[in-house]
Amino acid sequence: MEVVIVADPEAGGTLVGQAIVDLVARRPDAVLGLATGSSPVVVYRDLARRRAAGEVSFAGVRAFLLDEYAGLTPEHPRSYRRFIAEELERHVDFRPGAVRGPDAVSADVPAGCAAYEAAIAAAGGVDLQLLGIGTDGHIGFNEPGSSLASRTRIKTLTDRTRRDNARFFPSFDDVPRHVVTQGVGTILEARHLVLLAFGAAKADAVARAVEGPVTAMVPGSALQLHPHVSVVVDEPAAACLALAPYYRETWAHKPPWQGL
Ligand code: GLP
Repeated sequence: MEVVIVADPEAGGTLVGQAIVDLVARRPDAVLGLATGSSPVVVYRDLARRRAAGEVSFAGVRAFLLDEYAGLTPEHPRSYRRFIAEELERHVDFRPGAVRGPDAVSADVPAGCAAYEAAIAAAGGVDLQLLGIGTDGHIGFNEPGSSLASRTRIKTLTDRTRRDNARFFPSFDDVPRHVVTQGVGTILEARHLVLLAFGAAKADAVARAVEGPVTAMVPGSALQLHPHVSVVVDEPAAACLALAPYYRETWAHKPPWQGL
């Protein structure tokens, strides 16, 4: 696992945006894993800028979302599918149908989840998966206690996560209780995991995920089981990392050709 401590979220967005542009240059039909929440927005802004500058085309790229609120249609203004449409898709040139999210309105939820897993596999798996982390250590919507081998399925949100996400809804009571999320096991199959976390509120979750024991109580700690993980944090989010000086030293002396 590589931890990169950046000066501010925008620097993190530029770094990860560059990694995505490099991936798409190598593999124009790359498969991206997209995350919602505030953390990845700096990456989406960077990609929009690079697209406008002609640095990258997403015409051959496919993408899969991590999760969705159960019961919200893709068109619903608070759905994650709509969030991605607004924050990324409308600024770049994905082909129609190239971006998919889990089916959160299916009458047969397990069948919808199985179809989503099958679609990811049929696309050849995810090349680069963007991730945020919840203050309780969740990735995707895998709350504490999620099996580290879990697949796409329905989950119940904790009140803490519903409170954290209430800012996107008219009130706390409007935040759905149920979600459909890729499992921890699904996420671990992506070839490169990139977790972004900014701000002091994330410091504890980041330290527990990166330096704590691997445990279902901190789903983000499952990243320690993956061979290629980049954790991009600002100084406040890095505040509880015991090995921060080592991460800084490693990054400062990394061969420039290596990329993320
Ligand atoms: C939601 C999403 C997660 C995200 C988390 C943190 O719970 N399902 O994928 O990581 O929020 O969001 P933020 O980046 O806004 O702090």
